[in-house]
Amino acid sequence: MSIKIEPLDGPMGALVHGLESSGRLSDEDFATVEQAMYDHVAIVAPDLEENVPWMRDFTARFGPLVPHVLDQYHHPEGFEVSIIARNTGTSESRSTAKPAGAFWHSDLSYEKKPSDAIFLYSTQIPSKGGDTLAANMYLAYDGLPEKTKTRIENLTTTHRWGWNTGGATPTLTQEQLDTHPDVVHPVVRRHPKTGRKILFVNPGYVMRINEVGQQESDELLEELFEHALKPEYQYRHRWELNMLLGIDNRASMHAAVDDYTEPRRMLRMIVGCTEKMGIAA
Ligand code: SIN
Repeated sequence: MSIKIEPLDGPMGALVHGLESSGRLSDEDFATVEQAMYDHVAIVAPDLEENVPWMRDFTARFGPLVPHVLDQYHHPEGFEVSIIARNTGTSESRSTAKPAGAFWHSDLSYEKKPSDAIFLYSTQIPSKGGDTLAANMYLAYDGLPEKTKTRIENLTTTHRWGWNTGGATPTLTQEQLDTHPDVVHPVVRRHPKTGRKILFVNPGYVMRINEVGQQESDELLEELFEHALKPEYQYRHRWELNMLLGIDNRASMHAAVDDYTEPRRMLRMIVGCTEKMGIAA
């Protein structure tokens, strides 16, 4: 066994030592890495040489990768890999008012089948800033008052692409829009691997709670977002070059920090949904 897992201090995250971006990781070592993702919600592997086919193949072992709707940013070496670049002065650099992902969200929650996990790999980082924040939504659920847990148990939400993203998402083409209608998801999910309950709401894509009136929906969502974004549930990921960050997207939400002007470039792989979505029993 060449892989060692070192949990980070704080509400989530573990360092993965011994991962190399060449060759195929043994099934035993992969199982250790995968378990670390479920146990710690995020995993961090430093010092991995850039190898796009390896990134694609390694991350696809967590579940089938899905290409992002913004197909203009697909990587030339594989459409399952997206380029998230800013201030790089190249045609792949995004020009939205705010950086991609600079709002709290859980990837693909605006799709019928949200993502199980996402991976980001840094190929260019600013000398200051450009961190990624993540919130542990197991802890957010666990920390809710019992009466709120009971209140939200059977509620559902409507999610929409670009709903509250503050200029961080480009407008979809009509074709992209047609394949992305609003979707409904439970407020509370149960993680199929850990059995734990998750508060599955995010300010970026959740429009409303379906079973209550508009005002009650607005108030309850505000209460849930404010609760989930308490600092004690948050992890701040400080990037180093050639670092891989994996996030269990079911059990978290994340946001890119919009505080840099130098070039920043990430590769992103999104693992699709491998479960049937439904209200947590
Ligand atoms: C994302 O939300 O997918 C990107 C996050 C980041 O670039 O830090």
